[in-house]
Amino acid sequence: GGTSAAATGKRGLWSSRLMFILAATGSAVGLGNIWKFPYITGENGGGAFVLLYLGCIAIIGIPLLMAEILIGRRGGRNPAGSMEVLAQEAGVSSRWKLLGWAGVITGFVLLSFYLVVAGWAVSYIFTAGSGAFNGATSDDIGGLFGGLVSDPVASTAWGTIVLAITATIIIKGVKQGLEKAFSIMMPGLFVILLLLVGYSVSTGYFGQGVEFMFNSDFSKLTGTSVLIALGHAFFSLSLAGGGMMTYGSYLSKDVSLSKTVMTVGVLDTVVALIAGLAIFPIVFANGLEPGAGPGLIFVTLPLAFGQMPFGQIVGVLFFVMLSFAALTSAISLLEPAVSWMTEKRGMSRLKAGVLTSAGIWVLSLGSVFSFNIWQNYTLFGKTFFDTLDYLTSGWIMPLSGLAMAIFTGWIMTRAATHEEVGDGWGYRIWRFLIRYIVPVGILAVFLHAIGALD
Ligand code: PFF
Repeated sequence: GGTSAAATGKRGLWSSRLMFILAATGSAVGLGNIWKFPYITGENGGGAFVLLYLGCIAIIGIPLLMAEILIGRRGGRNPAGSMEVLAQEAGVSSRWKLLGWAGVITGFVLLSFYLVVAGWAVSYIFTAGSGAFNGATSDDIGGLFGGLVSDPVASTAWGTIVLAITATIIIKGVKQGLEKAFSIMMPGLFVILLLLVGYSVSTGYFGQGVEFMFNSDFSKLTGTSVLIALGHAFFSLSLAGGGMMTYGSYLSKDVSLSKTVMTVGVLDTVVALIAGLAIFPIVFANGLEPGAGPGLIFVTLPLAFGQMPFGQIVGVLFFVMLSFAALTSAISLLEPAVSWMTEKRGMSRLKAGVLTSAGIWVLSLGSVFSFNIWQNYTLFGKTFFDTLDYLTSGWIMPLSGLAMAIFTGWIMTRAATHEEVGDGWGYRIWRFLIRYIVPVGILAVFLHAIGALD
């Protein structure tokens, strides 16, 4: 507790446990699952990397997801507000609210570059629908994608569309906006994903896809693979982006967290694996390379769509799915800032939504320009886009994760976390992981990144 009726009275709560699961899974399942996971798996050689990733999800990701949602639910406010309430409850410095702030800011910054890629995804619904991939050569397809990213006006326009849709949904509020959007997009996403897997099976190359995803050749793993796997586990579970904390704050006290959080973590992982199983067979069936990198979805896959039967329809479905996934994640990146402004500054959702979006839009221009007019402006060899990605995923998110583990594992009382997580062996395992394994795991990866270990 600790939340006054006046503070909670103004806040929406999810109508059901299922709604929270849809919302949190919507946040977790995004470009990370469908765009990034398959290509980093491809780049890191397949099966062994997948195992490493699953390990990171199970022993670090899911316990932290629990920690983040727990903080949100017990605090019952926006991330900064929740941390303040809990710091007070635990009798420690109110500076801990900086951890909540980090989430709000990370969400804000992340959205500014996330929406650029999301914009490409939305635009590709139309490119695929126009039949532009049909019979195209790899030069044609490369040219299409190159044309989009190198055009600052087109990229900005598509990013703006994504941001406008996101803001419109947010402004309508938790029940009228978020829940309605998730009830359409999440089932849509799952149905399309299953259709695509069905199609993948029909190519006759499904076995080769399975083989690539699960046949573990550990000699392909490097030290950096561990970093990439942990970083991606964070990103994929939306850890330390503020969204999960905020969504947790809209969750009723009667719901048992252990099962709910587990469901979200498992669903996110299953979707990433299924996305790989939908994509790689199509890639192999068309004699293409799995290790193509970031262009896997925007260049390699369209090439396959252009060669295969029903490719035009499959292509449209694929990019609709990718767009749904990206939009539900974008919503969770904007909501923390909006909830902060409405609660702390007393603004309406309309005003808060418009103001935050305007800020994000301006910042997003830097990311759009990273691929064209600013591509030669780099800092330590990184473009503006790469720098924001590196600062958030490489530093702020793991550090916030470490701080969240310390806060929930060592600073909050056992009674408090026990009350939130619920009874049983789930709690004991969680507490052990969050106190010892999670901090040590994150620190080890950090030291390695700095080069102190190896
Ligand atoms: N989990 C999202 C994805 O996999 O695409 C990205 C994300 C959303 C990260 C929200 C962080 C966040 F707070």
